Amino acid sequence: MSEAQVNQGRGSQLLAWIDARFPLSKMMREHATEYYAGKNFNVWYVFGVLAMVVLIIQLITGIFLTMNYKPSAEDAFASVEYIMRDVEWGWLIRYMHSTGASAFFIVVYLHMFRAMLYGSYKKPRELLWLIGMVIYVALMAEAFMGYLLPWGQMSYWGAQVIISLFGALPVIGDPLVEWIRGDYNISDITLNRFFALHVIAVPLALVMLVVMHILALHEVGSNNPDGVEIKENKGPDGIPVDGIAFHPFYTSKDLVAIIIFLMAFSAVVFFAPEMGGYFLEHANFEPANSLKTPEHIAPVWYFTPFYAILRAVPDKLGGVLLMGGAIVVLFLLPWIDRSPVKSIRYRGWGYKGALMVFAISFVVLGFLGMQPATEIYTLVARVCTVLYFGFFVYLYIYTGSEQGKPVPDRLTYHG
Ligand code: HEM
Repeated sequence: MSEAQVNQGRGSQLLAWIDARFPLSKMMREHATEYYAGKNFNVWYVFGVLAMVVLIIQLITGIFLTMNYKPSAEDAFASVEYIMRDVEWGWLIRYMHSTGASAFFIVVYLHMFRAMLYGSYKKPRELLWLIGMVIYVALMAEAFMGYLLPWGQMSYWGAQVIISLFGALPVIGDPLVEWIRGDYNISDITLNRFFALHVIAVPLALVMLVVMHILALHEVGSNNPDGVEIKENKGPDGIPVDGIAFHPFYTSKDLVAIIIFLMAFSAVVFFAPEMGGYFLEHANFEPANSLKTPEHIAPVWYFTPFYAILRAVPDKLGGVLLMGGAIVVLFLLPWIDRSPVKSIRYRGWGYKGALMVFAISFVVLGFLGMQPATEIYTLVARVCTVLYFGFFVYLYIYTGSEQGKPVPDRLTYHG
């Protein structure tokens, strides 16, 4: 017997030992080697796995940052500078984490847009979408609390602006603001609780939610760019005729995407970690000063579409409600879109056009949220806010009688 055969024999003995005690092979089969997905996945289907890669990067770099970071108003800013200058590889760990935050939102926004392109939120994937939306909200909370930690000017004043928004709510507003801050002002106490939530509570919830997300996905099966349910067309062996095993076929494709992503990610980390002030705002390189308001307070780019909606409304409470509404309405998407056709490939021009207008208005709102609120920008923000919400109203009405192209029975694949 050759050495390789001996090793293989030992490997399968070990696997059998584990399998008798833990369903390792069973899980591998259910979620990888015998999980069948449509053979026609395109590039839009890589962002889920990329989101997982970024989540892992954030968890690992976060652990190492925590080893040297000091969560107190007195020491926080200096401890971040210490990480950047004195801790071995500290600059790399910190830039990976700060770039990772933006990368997370880039891949998650593209991932969500894919779901809108191919109707992946529709029956039977409504719960999968809802879990995704909870992940999205948790991600926003995670990023918001993380941004306070370096205790720079924008950390402080950004948190000040956002937390005080809750004060616009009638009756509960003021006590709620105090409850969030844990103090009459943003202080050491606020920093401490945000630290606790940022390093353990929310990441734990995120990891559990991602596990639920994948379980929900594997329960119903992946959608695909044709929006055709592959489970409805099975061969005599019970395997969908248009399905291919996730492993090795999609793991190998995903690996290519991961390598390309890591190359782009490294380029940013090594050559433009601040991204001209978009990923790390310039004002945050100054320590927090409660007596000096920065001239221009703007959240990081991934929040700016919602911030622009907030500012587009003259009334504070109205703005807060509309901003919240902009997120709530996304939760309802599976029920707002009544069309039985999933993929944009077979939907009417009314949907194609409206989705483009929606996407453009979201990007424009993102841009406007970063600019000072001049008269003309406010006007454009109002138009885009109307377009944003108008999309959902229109979608509900339009999908009552949408005329599209006939949906094929089998997947189309042009290799
Ligand atoms: C940490 C964040 C997230 C991770 C790690 C993640 C992971 C994944 C993975 C690995 C897949 C399967 C591969 C793929 O289709 O790309 C997937 C599918 C999906 N995700 Fe996410 N996801 C995240 C956030 C979200 C969010 C925010 C939403 C929407 C609100 C969402 C909605 C969906 C939907 C609808 C599918 C099924 C797509 C289809 O089969 O066409 N996900 N997700």
